[in-house]
Amino acid sequence: MKSHIHGLSIRDVKKHFHRTKKPEEKLRFFQKLYRLFKREKETIRAVDGISLDVGIGEIYGILGANGSGKSTLIRLISTLLLPDAGSIHVFGDDVVKHSMKVRRVMNRVSVEASFFKRLSSAENLIYAARLYGIPAKAAAKKAEQILERLGFEAKWMDEEMEQLSRGMQQKVAIARALLTTPMLLLLDEPTTGLDPKSKKDVQTFIEEIRDERNAVILLTTHDMTEAERLCDRIAIINEGKFIAEGTVKELLTMTQPENASTNTLEDVFIALTGKDLEEEG
Ligand SMILES: Nc1ncnc2c1ncn2[C@@H]1O[C@H](COP(=O)(O)OP(=O)(O)OP(=O)(O)O)[C@@H](O)[C@H]1O
Ligand SMILES: [Mg+2]
Repeated sequence: MKSHIHGLSIRDVKKHFHRTKKPEEKLRFFQKLYRLFKREKETIRAVDGISLDVGIGEIYGILGANGSGKSTLIRLISTLLLPDAGSIHVFGDDVVKHSMKVRRVMNRVSVEASFFKRLSSAENLIYAARLYGIPAKAAAKKAEQILERLGFEAKWMDEEMEQLSRGMQQKVAIARALLTTPMLLLLDEPTTGLDPKSKKDVQTFIEEIRDERNAVILLTTHDMTEAERLCDRIAIINEGKFIAEGTVKELLTMTQPENASTNTLEDVFIALTGKDLEEEG
């Protein structure tokens, strides 16, 4: 099995959450007490038996509605959560057994990225670079180059983070993830909430990163057009399970193959999940 090491290899991974069920109506005191002892638990199968392989130089997309398990899967890969079952390997190393080693070769960008809000983006980036052992001067230069390619104007570099729009903050988060040279890049909805121009900037940049660095890129999205444009392969996730996987071309023939030429990815998504992503915004 040593002959072919995938960049990212996931086998039958599961993560379930347990929480006490919320009562539908207001309960009286003794009913509450009863519930407390009875402990009605519900199980959320956030990730429920997922397997996938992503090769070097490949962009793999995960397309799913809100709450379908995308971020949970990303957190499992990035060692923020421990899987209940299954295995995840990054360049051949098990993420649970070799978490320190694995963390060094990957970076995650998500909408909930945290920054020092009262510091500028330049200061935040230099701080992050120092953690990686990159000298401040080199970091500042590199950060500026990346931000420029993302369409982030240099004049915003000295503005406090909290003064920046969500889209600008997202670009800083992407720049931070790329100060080092991650071999595995996890992008959790990298373009959600961005204006059309910023969206294009970020998408172009992701393509460039793939071509330049031969990285392994896993990205989640709600956006069909984005998935079609960027991803070499796409998985559709629904309630913690992959219900379809393939190239755009393959996915388009999965439902109503006779209409394959006029089908859109959205048609396929709706046919398979019964959900409409557009409605959820
Ligand atoms: N720490 C947690 N504790 C309990 N339940 C959780 C936890 N994290 C996620 N969940 C639940 O797991 C399910 C999947 O959540 P997840 O965040 O992975 O979805 P998602 O596909 O990223 O959604 P979105 O598109 O809204 O970001 C949801 O039902 C969510 O409520
Ligand atoms: Mg999410």
